[in-house]
Amino acid sequence: MAYEHLILERETGVAIVTLNRPAVLNALNLALLRDLDHAITELRDDDSVRVVILTGAGEKAFVAGADIKELAELTPVAGKAYAAAGQRVFAQIEQLGKPVIAAVNGYALGGGCELAMACTIRLASETARFGQPEVKLGIIPGFAGTQRLPRLVGKGRAMELILTGTPIDAAEAYRIGLVNRVVPSPALMTEARALAQALAASAPVALRHAMEAINGGLEMTVADGCVLEATLFGLVASTDDMREGTRAFVEKRKATFTGR
Ligand code: COA
Repeated sequence: MAYEHLILERETGVAIVTLNRPAVLNALNLALLRDLDHAITELRDDDSVRVVILTGAGEKAFVAGADIKELAELTPVAGKAYAAAGQRVFAQIEQLGKPVIAAVNGYALGGGCELAMACTIRLASETARFGQPEVKLGIIPGFAGTQRLPRLVGKGRAMELILTGTPIDAAEAYRIGLVNRVVPSPALMTEARALAQALAASAPVALRHAMEAINGGLEMTVADGCVLEATLFGLVASTDDMREGTRAFVEKRKATFTGR
């Protein structure tokens, strides 16, 4: 399918989605959100894709937030629908069933930070900057930032980031657990590809259910989360990949997983 505002490329086992509005620092307008929605559905249904990398076009930005020109025109009803649409697309990313790596190559502000947080793992270039500056525009985060940020970095830090609106650099984002790793800018995509290939070599059904256990369990009591984990463990223990993985270990060879 052809996209207006993003580039979708496939390499072996890995898809790279580049958000592509560099003239406005890849700001998320409705058309880009729609493209992202369709791309995620396309990648979900493509069994040849095991891992997705999400990044921004240009040198400066991952995503500098929701498109402020569009925001300025919103009515209350349209604003509610807009936030719900963004939340739905980001939830699809979180629940894709395949790891999504955010390769954050610059500003990840507002909706950009929220998008990175919806991804499974975040790699940041040294030049990346993260923040939720919405209060400076007289609004609050609307793409689940008030929910995902405290879960990632704790309530106190989320309060400070959201209430001050002040961005932080990549080193600070790493220190507070907002990103998994910081790498020199020229190495960002190489690192992202290497991580993607490592994940693509793992058993896809195992990855899918590990993510489901973590994401689902975070919304439950520990006891209920353990029931979910045991159930998914039992399910995964019946797969061809489980037999292949355990057999390969015994036979001292590398496992080849088929996703069945
Ligand atoms: N929505 C719409 N356009 C945006 C945008 C956004 N979120 N962020 C940047 N742009 C546009 C700018 O208007 C500018 O367009 P122009 O050349 O037509 O004037 C272009 O992108 C380049 O941005 P500019 O501000 O000139 O770059 P900078 O390097 O001076 O500053 C930022 C970079 C990220 C600090 C600054 O663009 C910014 O504060 N953006 C808004 C961030 C924000 O509040 N996001 C949350 C939205 S809810």
